[in-house]
Formats: sequence, structure tokens, C-alpha cells
Amino acid sequence: MINALSYIVVETPRMREWAEQASTHVGLQVDVLEAGKTMRLRADEKIQRFVVTAIEGESTMGMGFEVADEQTLIACAAALEAAGYKTTQGTPDEIEFRGVQDMIHFRDHDGVRLEIAYGLKDADTEFAPGRPIGGFRMGKMGLGHVAFITEHFEETSNLYRNVLGMSLTDYTYKPFKVEFLHCNPRHHTIGIAHTGGKSAIYHLMLEYNDFDDVGRAYDTALMNPESIGVTLGRHINDHATSFYLKNPDGWMFELGWATRTVGPDWEVEELKGMSLWGHDRTWLPDEKREEARQILKRLAAEGMRAPVVLPNTQKEQ
Ligand SMILES: [Fe+2]
Repeated sequence: MINALSYIVVETPRMREWAEQASTHVGLQVDVLEAGKTMRLRADEKIQRFVVTAIEGESTMGMGFEVADEQTLIACAAALEAAGYKTTQGTPDEIEFRGVQDMIHFRDHDGVRLEIAYGLKDADTEFAPGRPIGGFRMGKMGLGHVAFITEHFEETSNLYRNVLGMSLTDYTYKPFKVEFLHCNPRHHTIGIAHTGGKSAIYHLMLEYNDFDDVGRAYDTALMNPESIGVTLGRHINDHATSFYLKNPDGWMFELGWATRTVGPDWEVEELKGMSLWGHDRTWLPDEKREEARQILKRLAAEGMRAPVVLPNTQKEQ
């Protein structure tokens, strides 16, 4: 039912910091609508990939998912209502801000705002990145992926898989439950983790077309090591080479490259770890960090490795 993750909805008391990091560090284009109040962030030809609004107090982050057309939006709203979610029609102002044809929204069990929309417009101007980068890998694969911690694993898994129609890519149940789900060739669009901790957005992955753009973002982050939430490394499942940059609201951007895609012949896998190498999670308690190190050592001793599949040789666009 869902085609892709389409955009992110941010409310933040830190507009200036968001604009600065998005533009000069990540390489997004900042399109200010009302100074200090609203801005769109662009990452490709689309009118926006983030809509950002200034608020006082706690920041929030929500997700906008794309469906094909009006009929699918109606079917999606009906499926959500049947599953017990109260859906609300977007207001003309909200629809205008997002640059979509139509939009509904609802909240998941953790209270995260989720939107379903169709017809996200192209911008009138070409994408002008905030620093010289070779662009982001989006298209049919959508904006990227989001991983979050839920306090309601079964309900959330059921929402994405059985109501919104995503499919399981891979999973692990140790040391805690995680499922990675896809809805297009992107290896996963959603990662759901049940750690026993409070619900929270963990990260949004953005994928550069060019490896050097990850390296340069890492160079910039190294000037402020505190900003690195997870060091450079390579994921065991989507094969992204990436690092995690803390954003002004405390959740993270995973800035990555060369993820592998999934097709109809994909077979669900149980994961042996999270990463092939690197990805030291600087925010973990010492004992958990040590546990992760031991897993990396074991995988290294087994000689586990994965080929790099260059993005432009895969059929996703
Ligand atoms: Fe990720």
C-alpha cells in the first residue's frame, strides 16, 4: 500500500541550528518560507524532503509516507480506521506546506505523527545542495530509512506490516527485538526496535550517491567529535558504509553510501550482528559497547565480508 518514505515532519525550538547543519554539513538545500518560523529542506528535485516548523519546548519528528494516488489514500485511510487508528484529513495549510496533492495523518501507539500523502510536487528550481555533493539516492527508493525504538513492538510491527503493507527484510531477537521492513527496493525503509527503553526516534538514514561525500561529512564531524553518535562502519544487513551524526534535536542522521537493494526473490534473514566493522555506538554504556566489540571480533575471526555493490549498477530507479 505504501510506496516509500517520502518526507520528514520536524517541529523544533532550534531552527537556526537545523538550517546550519542541514545545509553546510549534510548538504541539503534550505528553503526558508517564513524566517525563524517555517522552512522546507530539499534533497532532490522534490519541493521538500523535510518540513520544519519552529516551536517552543520539546521537539517532535514525524514521517510522511507516499501512496500512488487518491484511491490508494482512501483505501489506506479505511484500512487504518478498520485497525483502530483515528485518521484526520490534512488542512489546506498543511497540504500547501508539504506540496502534496492530499494528505491524512494519524498517530502510532507511541504517539508519533504519521502522514500518508500522494502527489509530492517537483520544485520549480533545480536542487542546489548546501555544499558541493553528488546528490542523494532517492527516487523510487524514497527519502531513506528511519529506525526507532517503540514501547509497543507487536502493535507497531502489525501497523507497518499488516496495515500499511510493508514486508520483513531481516530481524534479530537478541539482545533485543529488531525488525527491518521494506516497501520498495530499498533494503529497509523502517527499523523497529524494542529495547525496553522509552519510545524514541533513533535515526534517519540519508544515502549519498558518492562515497567521498560521506568521508567529507565525517571530516566535518571529527572537528566536533561529540557530534558523532556512531563511528564510521559498515552495516551487516543493508551493507551501508556510514556514520551517525547527532542532529540539533538529539536524534541522528545516518549518512551512508552503497546500500544493497532487495527484490522479489529476497529471503528473510536472521541477523548475526548489526555491523561488519566499525559503528562504535559512543552513547552506549561501557558493557554494551564491549559486547558489540566482541561481536565484531567474532565476525572478523569468521572472515565475514560483503561485496560493495555500486548504486548505479542496481535497478532501483
Ligand atoms: Fe540505519
